[in-house]
Amino acid sequence: MGATISDIRLLLRIKKLPLCSEPRHVFITGGTGYMGSQLIPALLERGHHVRALVRPGSKGHVPAGCEVVSGNPLDASTYRQFVRPANTFVHLVGVPRPSPSKAAEFRAIDLVSAQQAITLAAELAVDHFIYLSVAHPAPMMKDYIAVRAECESMIRERKLRATILRPWYVLGPGHRWPYMLLPMYKIFELLPFTREGARRLGLVTLEQMILALVFAVETPPPAGVESAKQIRVIDVPAIRSARANLETLAAPARSS
Ligand SMILES: NC(=O)c1ccc[n+]([C@@H]2O[C@H](COP(=O)([O-])OP(=O)(O)OC[C@H]3O[C@@H](n4cnc5c(N)ncnc54)[C@H](OP(=O)(O)O)[C@@H]3O)[C@@H](O)[C@H]2O)c1
Repeated sequence: MGATISDIRLLLRIKKLPLCSEPRHVFITGGTGYMGSQLIPALLERGHHVRALVRPGSKGHVPAGCEVVSGNPLDASTYRQFVRPANTFVHLVGVPRPSPSKAAEFRAIDLVSAQQAITLAAELAVDHFIYLSVAHPAPMMKDYIAVRAECESMIRERKLRATILRPWYVLGPGHRWPYMLLPMYKIFELLPFTREGARRLGLVTLEQMILALVFAVETPPPAGVESAKQIRVIDVPAIRSARANLETLAAPARSS
């Protein structure tokens, strides 16, 4: 897989961030996708160890430098033995190009893979579970959102220490058409009665998303507190500020 200009720009930006003080062992599903294939090089650049669960036919799409294991994300028994020693589990599996016509696939793939991952993370007492959800409520994509909401509830029920990220649409290479909507977003953000929705369902860039995922990996929610506080939600405004947060949080590590 050749690196694009935006891949290189992202890595350069990551190189400029203060060093991470505590490397993590990260187990990732969906590492061959749009976000996963950018997140893995970013995590490696930050000094983390990454092991990616990949379907046998998709091995050629895994970014170089990470450890690859083969299994089926829809059946945790095929990868249970590979999760440890990870202390961070990132779940990114989802139906490609989601649309309202894919309700059955959302239940068969997104829901089942997340159920399997959440149950296994709870059984293995993985320190930190990171789940890619979606912004909601929203006036469209009801079935997609219903599955994500079900998975978020499952994370709460299993009392996982977790970070849930809720983007709406992630702009980047091959995902550019919603740029046309930006003027409309600007107007909605100015009007008091549409402002909150426009911010919640705002567009984020792939770079903002990857930095938010890196931020999530490097700063788990506090441990040993009541279970509701062990779950952190990173919504669109928080995804947009992840870079600034990373710079602030990591700064003391470099000076010490
Ligand atoms: N992109 C966005 O704007 C956006 C916004 C909100 C939420 N999300 C959610 O964020 C997550 C990551 O998004 P993305 O855009 O990176 O997704 P993506 O590019 O479509 O990648 C999806 C990943 O899921 C795997 N996968 C798909 N079908 C599978 C199946 N039947 N069995 C096993 N694995 C399967 C793919 O593996 P293979 O390579 O083996 O096919 C790939 O690694 C998804 O859950 C998505 O719904 C995305």
